[in-house]
Amino acid sequence: SMYQSTPSSETSFVQKLRTSGRSLVVFYGSQTGTAEEFASRLAKEGGRFSLKGMLADPEECSMEELAQLKDIPNSLALFCLATYGEGDPTDNAQEFFEWLQNGDADLSGLNYAVFGLGNKTYEHYNEMGKFVDKRLEDLGATRVFELGMGDDDANIEDDFITWKDRLWPAVCEFFGIEASGEEESMRQYKLTEHADIAPEKVYKGEVARLNSLVTQRPPFDSKNPFMAPILEKRQLYTGGDRSCLHIELGITDSKIRYDAGDHVAVYPENDKALVERIGQLLEVDLDTVITLTNVDSDSSKKTPFPCPCSYRTALSFYVDITSNPRTHVLKEISEFTSDPEEKAKLKQMASTTAEGKQEYQEWVIKENRSIVHILEDLKSCKPHLDYLLELLPRLQCRYYSISSSPKAHAERIHVTAAIVQYKTPTGRTVNGVATSWLGRLSLNDKIPIFVRRSAFRLPTRPQTPVVMVGPGTGIAPFRGFLQERAFCLEQGKQIGETILYFGCRKRDEDFLYQEELMEFVNKGVLKLHTAFSREKEHKVYVTHLMEQHKEDLWRILGKENGHLYVCGDARNMARDVHNLVVDLVAEGGGMNKDAANAYVKKMEAQKRYSADVWS
Ligand code: FAD
Ligand code: 2AM
Repeated sequence: SMYQSTPSSETSFVQKLRTSGRSLVVFYGSQTGTAEEFASRLAKEGGRFSLKGMLADPEECSMEELAQLKDIPNSLALFCLATYGEGDPTDNAQEFFEWLQNGDADLSGLNYAVFGLGNKTYEHYNEMGKFVDKRLEDLGATRVFELGMGDDDANIEDDFITWKDRLWPAVCEFFGIEASGEEESMRQYKLTEHADIAPEKVYKGEVARLNSLVTQRPPFDSKNPFMAPILEKRQLYTGGDRSCLHIELGITDSKIRYDAGDHVAVYPENDKALVERIGQLLEVDLDTVITLTNVDSDSSKKTPFPCPCSYRTALSFYVDITSNPRTHVLKEISEFTSDPEEKAKLKQMASTTAEGKQEYQEWVIKENRSIVHILEDLKSCKPHLDYLLELLPRLQCRYYSISSSPKAHAERIHVTAAIVQYKTPTGRTVNGVATSWLGRLSLNDKIPIFVRRSAFRLPTRPQTPVVMVGPGTGIAPFRGFLQERAFCLEQGKQIGETILYFGCRKRDEDFLYQEELMEFVNKGVLKLHTAFSREKEHKVYVTHLMEQHKEDLWRILGKENGHLYVCGDARNMARDVHNLVVDLVAEGGGMNKDAANAYVKKMEAQKRYSADVWS
């Protein structure tokens, strides 16, 4: 465990702060890198107030040392903590979370402030940030500034800069210090170009170990993905102009195991045309091999991504070039913009003035510009490519709900992926990174994957009745569940009622796996309810059908201890289903609203109500 009684020099953040003359430590709980990026910006900005800062991963620190931080004069601990899934901490903050929850450390004298990152579409909004902010106070620590909360469903960048704009004055007042000067834009990484380097020493898109995509060694996980061959790929929609892929990934000899309900993650590659476009716009030879080295030698992160690698590899595999850049990126690239009007525009959008925020909201968010679009539209903006690579967030893996069961397909993982493609207000067509890449791949191409275990599981007893709600690609995990139940039936076991609510636009357009579902119905595995939303004048949704079946649903869920599963769109559908379930519990069980809510909470705690949703 990281929480040994005598911290080693590796895990002692207090020792690191001391030896490097720092007083500010910024911890992050990050899954996709946003919290880490915010934390890194705070650590850097502390310098303006003579609070030299250090970025720290709680997983690599002896967090019980928080009790000793007070021995460093004017010390401050900041936390940027994301909430994940059903109100959970991120993986790297899990141990810290448990330590806070179970421990009773005396943290008096510790000065702190917390910024939480969450998403309002999910039920447990910013639970982690709220918990840590309150728990630290309960343990005697001093809150220097109020809890900040960012909503990733709206504009989390705005929430963050608004919070930190008020944080720093509060910190100054608390310690009786002043800003020591202009905000300096300091590079975190130093560039080295390699003129002659042996090709086998150069990274080519690996997540961690050099050449790991070629010399494959189990066990496979997020740091060491398996190169899975695409063994089957076909179009699932039968009409319309949208596209949804069924893909089968081979896992023979990988020792990868999965269960129905798990997720598979893929590491995608950015569109080659976009990568080349950046090379053209910035007039850089993308074959140049580089290393970016952290100038802070105390940092545990030596390079922003695996180095040495070519510019092309970095742009293809390591950085996100398609999402809307955050304001600090605009601020930094404004320094490399020669046209005064363009420069002013970038500076303005990066400022915290009302006009600046408005313009950022309009020009970047609403008009949906990526870094490529910005470089195209602001012709005089020519940041050094190595600096841009330092500023852009890491390209993330994409998760898919596995749509098969190992009982039916032990050596394959099935994926059901709706292709993302849309037009932006500036008339550009944007392709989803991972789905367009999957669309371009051919049979037998190999792609880096790993399996993430989930708690989304069928009940242990096959006799337990289940109700599954999965419109659109939300059907994915339920196809696995159905394969599982069909297998039980074939084994001669008795299976409980198995009900699926599926919804799509039109029966002859996007009715996913129609034939397979009919077969499950014919075999007596499945009771299917379908809602076609665009066949009639009025919308028909899965929730409308459930509304008509309230009594029956109460019988199954309330009286027969059945399980309810929801998968797909987190934004509207999952919330509507949740409200409907509270209603039907209230009506069926003769409860008032509070009692019904409590009942549903209990169902969730008992894993009788599970959601696998995304936005
Ligand atoms: P990206 O390049 O990431 O683009 C997607 C982004 O583009 C969106 O976030 C949104 O910001 C923007 N966008 C999309 N449409 C529009 C529009 N019309 N206008 C403006 N902006 C838009 N997906 C599946 O298809 N099947 C699954 O089974 C599945 N399971 C998932 C399970 C989990 C746990 C999670 C977290 C996600 C799951 N997803 C699933 C979603 C999947 O991970 C990807 O997000 C999705 O495939 C898009 O990835 P992409 O790289 O192609 O698109
Ligand atoms: P729509 O696109 O016609 O509005 C899969 O996306 C299906 O879910 C579509 O038929 C879609 O209908 C439908 N859908 C959209 N919002 C929903 C909601 N809040 N509840 C249930 N189904 C919804």
